[in-house]
Amino acid sequence: MSISTAATPYGTLPPASTPSARKPVSLPRLQEMRDRGEKITMLTAYDATFAAVADAAGVECILVGDSLGMVCQGQSSTVAVTLEHMAYHTKSVTRGLRRVQGTTWVVGDLPFGSYQESKEQAIRSATVMMQAGAHMVKLEGGGWTTEIVQFLVERGIPVCAHLGLTPQTVHALGGYRVQGKTDESAAILKRHAHELQDAGATMLVLEMVPAVLSAALTQELPRCHTIGIGAGKGTAGQVLVLHDMLGVNLGKNAKFVRNFMEEAGGVQAAMAAYVKAVKEGSFPDDAIHAW
Ligand code: KIV
Repeated sequence: MSISTAATPYGTLPPASTPSARKPVSLPRLQEMRDRGEKITMLTAYDATFAAVADAAGVECILVGDSLGMVCQGQSSTVAVTLEHMAYHTKSVTRGLRRVQGTTWVVGDLPFGSYQESKEQAIRSATVMMQAGAHMVKLEGGGWTTEIVQFLVERGIPVCAHLGLTPQTVHALGGYRVQGKTDESAAILKRHAHELQDAGATMLVLEMVPAVLSAALTQELPRCHTIGIGAGKGTAGQVLVLHDMLGVNLGKNAKFVRNFMEEAGGVQAAMAAYVKAVKEGSFPDDAIHAW
């Protein structure tokens, strides 16, 4: 699958009228995939062009992640990212998808400081993200987030939760470390995940947690689709940061990342190889990519 392009003064963008043969990704479709045992694929994107290419490569979900703080802004964490930044990038992504009549489900991160204060603050921030074009918002943490998730879901905003390594709290966690390694921390993480499903979260990113823990949670949470990153292959789907999987970064990739660009001839081919590898179960390789 490839997208046709139209020349512009600053490079090439897909034309506005490219017809799509695929059905839009929706919550019912994600649940159908889950029930069939088909893995869900997600990549981050922050701009129109990469979003359109990811769509053409067959990626089901795009995460406009606050990792843009690191990969776009050069920050050392996601903490400095604001709601205004998130809305700007979400609008860019959804504009790109509209140009190609994209079918991809767009998840937008609620950044640090935009939902911690109260349920009212959370819904105001989520409204900004939904009006920027997101189909679902993502927020980090368990326990205290449960009532916020329920509040948003009851008001028609789909929510993706995020447990394990939660980058917005990197300073409290003492660094980018694997979470849920002890029996006690694994039990807390499991309790939080169950509470989040009960509150109506329909997706759950599990970042840097042991593969056995994320596989067990995936079995236990049939209505909340686990999306792993550094969490082994037993999850309902996988996510990677775009720049990492393309090998475009300033440092060394984390152990759980595979550089798909090395094996492919171009960006769309690398994304398509990622989709294929996740679907057929060859990525992640638990012998290399799990704890
Ligand atoms: O911001 C982001 O890109 C994320 C992923 C690492 C899951 O939250």
